[in-house]
Amino acid sequence: MTAVTPLHPPAHNAVPVIRLESVQKSFTLPNGERFDAVRSLSLDIHAGDIFGLIGKSGAGKSTLLRLINLLERPDAGRVIVGGRDLTTLSRSELRDTRQSLGMIFQQFNLIQNATVADNVAFPLKIHGHHTRAEIQERVRECLRLVGLEAKIDTYPAQLSGGQKQRVAIARALAPRPKVLLCDEPTSALDSETTQELLATLRDINQKIGVTIVIVTHELPVVELLCRQVAILEQGELIEQFAVDAPPAQRRTALGREIDTLVRRRERDAREDAAAAAGYAARANGTQGVAYA
Ligand SMILES: Nc1ncnc2c1ncn2[C@@H]1O[C@H](COP(=O)(O)OP(=O)(O)O)[C@@H](O)[C@H]1O
Ligand SMILES: [Mg+2]
Repeated sequence: MTAVTPLHPPAHNAVPVIRLESVQKSFTLPNGERFDAVRSLSLDIHAGDIFGLIGKSGAGKSTLLRLINLLERPDAGRVIVGGRDLTTLSRSELRDTRQSLGMIFQQFNLIQNATVADNVAFPLKIHGHHTRAEIQERVRECLRLVGLEAKIDTYPAQLSGGQKQRVAIARALAPRPKVLLCDEPTSALDSETTQELLATLRDINQKIGVTIVIVTHELPVVELLCRQVAILEQGELIEQFAVDAPPAQRRTALGREIDTLVRRRERDAREDAAAAAGYAARANGTQGVAYA
């Protein structure tokens, strides 16, 4: 079988929570030349999904992520979130809609001279329509979600990298977003902390159903966390597939590497299961002799 993966997956029944329609973004370089960072790119992301955006450095991943919440305004195309085209909204409508799009970053971006509680409360305070008691309650709830309630009165400088990123997640979740946009959230963390953070993201996705869009250049992150992956090269979406789909002919080296990782994990799981079954059989056999 050499079926080529379709660029766009089969139509989904539900309306996507994020739809990018032929979005385009160029920057003017210091020498005056135009540089196309994202080229006429279309993409659907469905509610509840964990969606990976991968590609080499400079491929346009961060720009694409920032187009989703209009931190970058596209030169052309539509950005539809929850059925509304963000490019047509007024400033105040856009501010309200951004509440449904939380974001976290590689460098955490916490306020250093504010406590953990005040960091998490920040997006609730700037939106003004919550009482102090509501804010306090929500801050606790969000810190509980990321397992950091005990750190509520500490300052960012007193936390490890993994804990800082958890505070950033709690802050992003405070306004109850539908979507959590993550730009290289584990790139500043060691591999053990990365695994813990991925477990937290998976747990949040399952518990509250928030859709996760994650930019990363780390393939194990895709393999461990994501259900869908889209591969970008020079501002273009080259292929998209379900991470646990059967291996297929992929268009990109990154796509083939992901397939290899998934296959290796499946093989390891089979070997572990076989070893466990063998051990159980031997244990039973020994028992059989002992009690014969
Ligand atoms: N504000 C900007 N001005 C000029 N060029 C930019 C700007 N932002 C990004 N770029 C360029 O666009 C390309 C894509 O950037 P980016 O989206 O950050 O890539 P990635 O996150 O995949 O590494 C890069 O070549 C980068 O230098
Ligand atoms: Mg980037």
